[in-house]
Amino acid sequence: MTSRQLPERWSQQLQLDDGRILWLRPLDPADAEPIRQTFSLLSPEEIRMRFLHPVKELTPDMTRRLTELDPSHEFALVAAEPLPPGEALVGAVARLSIDEGTRRAEYAILVSHFLTGKGLGRMLMKQLIRWARLKRLDEIYGDVLDENTAMLDLARSLGFRREMLPDDPGIVRVRLDLRRKPSLQ
Ligand SMILES: CC(C)(COP(=O)(O)OP(=O)(O)OC[C@H]1O[C@@H](n2cnc3c(N)ncnc32)[C@H](O)[C@@H]1OP(=O)(O)O)[C@@H](O)C(=O)NCCC(=O)NCCS
Repeated sequence: MTSRQLPERWSQQLQLDDGRILWLRPLDPADAEPIRQTFSLLSPEEIRMRFLHPVKELTPDMTRRLTELDPSHEFALVAAEPLPPGEALVGAVARLSIDEGTRRAEYAILVSHFLTGKGLGRMLMKQLIRWARLKRLDEIYGDVLDENTAMLDLARSLGFRREMLPDDPGIVRVRLDLRRKPSLQ
């Protein structure tokens, strides 16, 4: 994959090894409708990995919560077709949300199976980490199903540590301490 910076902040053009061009850019409220409509293209497994339980459809309410961000404590990036928001199909979303009154943020990410295994997950996670460092947060964390090898491997390779949640068997919390010096990834 190659990338080149676009003029807008947090935006770059990516060319995947198969030649496809994508824009990695901040999520726009206009992405809501394409995201809602293409939710049915996701497999039940990847939805369960992302939400930790089955979700049949994105209701308008859920879509609003996922796409109307409060920039004071939320940040989200998408990988989408190189078209204006609203027209572009969205293939991946990664978000961070700062827990109120703390210096830590929870991440969530979904790269649709049409685009997995091409480096997008790693690139999106690195951008989330960059945003969190710029915000001078202490930690980012995510809750991951213990069977989700792909996410657990990716998190480990980025320096996250694993922790079991006693009240949530089957879920692993992965934490990245941002007060430590960045390691090479
Ligand atoms: C986990 C997920 C984000 C990975 O995205 P991706 O774009 O395929 O990841 P990348 O191509 O950047 O791969 C990065 C690393 O992830 C790990 N990985 C990816 N797919 C993997 C798989 N099938 N098995 C094991 N490890 C895998 C590897 O460590 C890989 O490193 P490598 O490229 O050096 O081998 C994606 O599979 C996904 O969205 N899954 C469904 C939702 C989800 O699980 N979200 C996480 C909880 S919020």
